[in-house]
Amino acid sequence: MFAVRSGEIAKNMSNLFNFNRLFIVIGNKAVTSPFNLNDMPGSAGRMDIMCRCVAQALFVSHGVRKDTAICLLLKGEPNPPKAILFKGDRVRYLAPDERNVGGIIRKALSVERIDDWVKSSPGVYVARRDLKALLEEVEDFDIFYLKEGGEDIRNIKFGNRVAFVLGDHLGVEKDDEELILSRSAGVVSLSPLSLQADQCIVIAHYELDRRFAGLD
Ligand SMILES: C[S@@+](CC[C@H](N)C(=O)[O-])C[C@H]1O[C@@H](n2cnc3c(N)ncnc32)[C@H](O)[C@@H]1O
Repeated sequence: MFAVRSGEIAKNMSNLFNFNRLFIVIGNKAVTSPFNLNDMPGSAGRMDIMCRCVAQALFVSHGVRKDTAICLLLKGEPNPPKAILFKGDRVRYLAPDERNVGGIIRKALSVERIDDWVKSSPGVYVARRDLKALLEEVEDFDIFYLKEGGEDIRNIKFGNRVAFVLGDHLGVEKDDEELILSRSAGVVSLSPLSLQADQCIVIAHYELDRRFAGLD
């Protein structure tokens, strides 16, 4: 597979973060170069989890949530960290199956010059960002850390612009956790059980959807 030397620099940079709901998922071992789509749970560092998170963050029945974005923060070898942003208002040719999402992630990982956000597919942007830089970029969101044992989501008041940070199968490393806590509006629990990352996204959407529909 050929590397894409440079993608299209994201136009209207100030508009890149123009959504109201954001999920930031930390992929502790998710690889940062093009990977084998047939081995996403293995040699790609649990990229299958990242794919499921993208699908659950963006898709509803026969449509896409236009006010939502998801950012995958990939920390695996060989070239970490890389952030891949999927924007619901701009994605095209994206389907909810893992293989389709995996192909789009793989294409983003083939872009080489990523100091600024670069468009790798419609609605998909890649940049060299660590967690600190990413959290600074979304500082005008209310940032919540999703974690077992936090405050019950039903007791939390949410503003219009909300970002949730969560981990993969390995959770969130201590350094990352300290960084998140220093910037977050709170630690939020979704269930008395420890859930999979994509399940957390479904429940967070459900709770916010109810809130914004005036059902609670
Ligand atoms: C599969 S869990 C991680 C489990 C990992 N073994 C650990 O100990 O952290 C993936 C992520 O989902 C989020 N999560 C899981 N259960 C949760 C819950 N009940 N409430 C809020 N967030 C949860 C956390 O961000 C967690 O890092």
